[in-house]
Amino acid sequence: MKVLVLNGPNLGRLGRRQPEIYGSTTYADLVSLCQEWGAAVGLDVEVRQTNHEGELLDWLNRAADDETPVVLNAAAWTHYSLALYDACAQLTAPMVELHISDPKQRPEEFRHHSVVTPHAATEIVGQGVDGYRQALEFLAGR
Ligand code: DQA
Repeated sequence: MKVLVLNGPNLGRLGRRQPEIYGSTTYADLVSLCQEWGAAVGLDVEVRQTNHEGELLDWLNRAADDETPVVLNAAAWTHYSLALYDACAQLTAPMVELHISDPKQRPEEFRHHSVVTPHAATEIVGQGVDGYRQALEFLAGR
């Protein structure tokens, strides 16, 4: 089964971006880890990252057409993008909402709301990059 792991803005700097919050695993490491973790449970995983909201919307629209399961870390768009809300609403296969940190435990109020949650099969938060492994295992039915 094919699975898309879609990452939103600023996640390309993983490992260098606020490591005290997001850890020291780099984005390149994350890509390899997701492919390994996916393969271990029989998934063909493709990992993408974009800083451009329309690109993420295009990927989600395509995933809806293709009925592709998605692991989605929409980063800051999670908290305010109504276009993202609408794109997630259209998904036809399960989508896992993923955050490396636990946004609801962070001090900024704006992180406490998610437009993704209403459409997610489950949420995995605050597990660091290991959350991606847990999300892939969830989609594989493990
Ligand atoms: C994040 C949490 C968001 O609040 C933040 O805007 C991010 C990353 C996470 O993975 O913990 O960019 O989605």
